[in-house]
Amino acid sequence: MPDAEKSAGAERKDYGIGVPMETPGFFLKGSAHLYWGVKNRLSQIFNPKSGRTVMLAFDHGYIMGPTTGLERLDLVVPPLIPHVDCLMCTRGGLRTCISPEVRKPVVMRCSTGATVLRELSNEVIGVTVEEALALNAAAVTAQACIGAEFERETLDNLSYLINEGNRYGLPTLGVTAVGKEMVRDARYLGLACRVIAELGVHFVKTYYCEPGFEEVVAGCPVPVVIAGGKKLPELDALKMAYKAIDQGAMGVDMGRNIFAADNPVAMAQAVGAVVHELAAPERAFELYNDLKGK
Ligand code: R5P
Repeated sequence: MPDAEKSAGAERKDYGIGVPMETPGFFLKGSAHLYWGVKNRLSQIFNPKSGRTVMLAFDHGYIMGPTTGLERLDLVVPPLIPHVDCLMCTRGGLRTCISPEVRKPVVMRCSTGATVLRELSNEVIGVTVEEALALNAAAVTAQACIGAEFERETLDNLSYLINEGNRYGLPTLGVTAVGKEMVRDARYLGLACRVIAELGVHFVKTYYCEPGFEEVVAGCPVPVVIAGGKKLPELDALKMAYKAIDQGAMGVDMGRNIFAADNPVAMAQAVGAVVHELAAPERAFELYNDLKGK
């Protein structure tokens, strides 16, 4: 069984670090042979100029209820929208709190069935691909809980989104959720990202880790974006984003480290400077403080 256990020679993997994967004819890794509609939607999510994206994740309520910093979607999210490239949210959050005049692409959270009060991997599909299309989603998403009790079911959820989405040119974002019993290291995240990329997701969201994040990205043949995770001091969050981009991530899908920042609007712009311009974290933090003072 490949790498299920640490085996002799496992340390000798060759990820070809320093040799970028070729992207013939289309700017995104692993996307050259996709349908026009998928490429067009991916071009709405990822900025073709920088090749990267700042996605604002505010789907937390679907498992956590009113998360700190996101108690009021209608007050917190709209001011952030001009400063991000893409919105990642639930059907209910979108329909109730986001104006239909908004022109940013939406990545629709389609899984449900579990909350923080129960086993998080026990998910099903709650939003169909047709419903996501009716809401003009640019992509659909669900999580894969690799190694968890309901691993198979979560892969089945993703398979549904990929198979049905492909019929309509609708890309799928695969999220690698990490259960409490899993270690968030390069070995685990590398396995999880590769499994769902080979299943057919068009881009992957995972966590930054060190050491070894560069290898996680290199071993994944589609673009990788990072989740922010728990709230960090702003400079630390910017440092994490910088390291991830520097090691090959194509963006962030960040929630708490933006909407729960001291000044969320300033933080969204500082994260944008890191992601699109590879601004040094200290420089981005200066920008954050400047914007915060205005
Ligand atoms: C979790 O409920 C969601 O999948 C979030 O979208 C994800 O965890 C990213 O948000 P954060 O940056 O807060 O971790």
